[in-house]
Amino acid sequence: MRQEQLDSLYRWFQGYAGSFSSDNPRIQAHLKLKQQHTYRVCAEMRYLVRSLALPDRDARIAEAVALLHDTGRFEQFLRYQTFMDSRSENHCLLGLRVLTERKVLQDLDESERRIIEKSVEYHGAIELPDLPEDTILFARLIRDADKIDIFHIVIKNYKEYLRNPEGFVLEVAFPDTPGCSPEVAAAVLARQPIDYRQLKTIDDVKLMQLGWVFDINFAATLIRIRDRGYLDELIHLLPDTPEMAHLTGFVMDYVEQAIQQSNPSAS
Ligand SMILES: [Fe+2]
Repeated sequence: MRQEQLDSLYRWFQGYAGSFSSDNPRIQAHLKLKQQHTYRVCAEMRYLVRSLALPDRDARIAEAVALLHDTGRFEQFLRYQTFMDSRSENHCLLGLRVLTERKVLQDLDESERRIIEKSVEYHGAIELPDLPEDTILFARLIRDADKIDIFHIVIKNYKEYLRNPEGFVLEVAFPDTPGCSPEVAAAVLARQPIDYRQLKTIDDVKLMQLGWVFDINFAATLIRIRDRGYLDELIHLLPDTPEMAHLTGFVMDYVEQAIQQSNPSAS
């Protein structure tokens, strides 16, 4: 992929995302959130490709994946007024459909197009399936870059919600009764991915988000999440109980170990 091709994808995305606007402030807030999320994920992707020292062509493909990964979110929200795939449809597949219908990737090489399509398709899957050798790096990169910014968004939202629950305009999908479900706690301790269907409370969601660290592919991602204080903040937002302390200690020990193992001289 050449730089001009990436630039033209940027122009397409800007026009496409910008074509969704609403007089309804709630809808508008959600659309804007995804637009801003996309550009921040692109910035996180540039950080990751720099830390992995990827060649320019791969760096551009990775940035295109970041740019297009949530293409499906705009139509999803306008049509269903939710970002929950379980209550609407799979936004990854929806995005893929938009990219195909609008022939967004048609000027790219066949192999580049396939890499981008597969990476978009599986960025939100609970686990990555087996993918072709040339695709797996990009599929892993987008899952990491996306998670870095989702940590940023959810922590900001939890804090805003706590400050003013009535004035909170974004969707709150679960009751904020304190405490977590035993299945969710068990999954964290087993380092297993948590299915959205297992979630019952907001604390379950926070624990699931902490548990994402087990699914992170690159130490550079863990370092960024830790150094930005996202994990500490999330832990701070959970109830202060011995059970939680055990769970969060388990997560933090894993993060430190994974960072150490990747580069024993780093601290
Ligand atoms: Fe997504």
